[in-house]
Amino acid sequence: DEADKGTYPFYMLKEVDEQPNVMRKLAQTYLSEHGVPQIDDKLIKAMEAADRLYIVGAGTSYHAGLVGKRLFEKLAHIPTEVHVSSEFAYEQPMLSEKPFFIFLTQSGETADSREVLVNVNDAGYPSLTITNVQNSTLSREATYTLLLHAGPEIAVASTKAYTAQIALEAILAKALGEVTGQIVAQDFNIRQQLGLVATGMQAIVDEKDTLEKIANDYLMQSNRAFYIGRGIDHAVSLEAALKLKEISYVQAEGFASGELKHGTIALIEKDTPVIGFITQAKTAGLTRSNLQETMARGAKTLTIVREGLAIDGDDLILPDVDEMLMPLLSVVPAQLLAYYTSLNKGLDVDKPRNLAKSVTVE
Ligand code: AGP
Repeated sequence: DEADKGTYPFYMLKEVDEQPNVMRKLAQTYLSEHGVPQIDDKLIKAMEAADRLYIVGAGTSYHAGLVGKRLFEKLAHIPTEVHVSSEFAYEQPMLSEKPFFIFLTQSGETADSREVLVNVNDAGYPSLTITNVQNSTLSREATYTLLLHAGPEIAVASTKAYTAQIALEAILAKALGEVTGQIVAQDFNIRQQLGLVATGMQAIVDEKDTLEKIANDYLMQSNRAFYIGRGIDHAVSLEAALKLKEISYVQAEGFASGELKHGTIALIEKDTPVIGFITQAKTAGLTRSNLQETMARGAKTLTIVREGLAIDGDDLILPDVDEMLMPLLSVVPAQLLAYYTSLNKGLDVDKPRNLAKSVTVE
């Protein structure tokens, strides 16, 4: 039974472990043997007709949208905005002439996101819901639907839905970019890349002992922590911080590393944990110096680095995949750090206080 915990103490750990298979499943479902995206032509035509994409979501799904923006802009060369649904619903930004809406929602039931979709439908704009739940409200009410095929996600903290959303956004961006003649999309061997991602994820989830030790040494004693990074690493830092907050109750902040010195660095004191994501060649040196700045103020720093950018003394080394897909790997240690911090504090990992799996009130 897919929704059975089996020998796992918590669903979250099982769902983290399932991620390599979810990557393979998405590749099988949405790519031909030769890596050609198999996406409904009508959907691609509707997206091709748009002059701007609007990605809408809440929580972790919003964070997957922040990564998606980079993928759509790089691979399909289409301007893309990302919005928190509870904000968009009540203060709609100025729209372009031909908007296309993408709703990201694991459950397909988030009330704030649905409120936006209702308005989008009233205005007659085309939309796509990317969801894990077939026949969910947002899937029924959008013009198009793509399923995540991640299997039931039971733990309140979303893990495999986040990586599935990013992988599917990458497939969609590749499909759109190919149709619109973008060389970078044509050259992007997504089937091979998703294979590397699956293998890389497996290597990370096989390092549970190391991650548990880091959680104990770095995070257990502190009620505050920072994840930092630039660009796509910043997007992942927001998700990493959310994971830690919601299940371990550590007050964690995801921060653009260059922005720290403009005020927030005042919060760094002796032994404040600061974890830096370094997966993008362009900004690696900058994030390293931002980490140094926090270290000089007493922070206990930790680096999560892509192999090709690693230097002596780095803490966690991630296998190399295309930089655009590095969030699929860099988020996994953060999921496990949150898991072990929560577990070793004796908390209910799957059902953190004050939270429900899907938020059906606005
Ligand atoms: C993630 O760990 C959360 N518990 C939460 O932020 C969630 O992602 C959000 O409520 C959105 O849910 P959805 O994807 O089902 O719309």
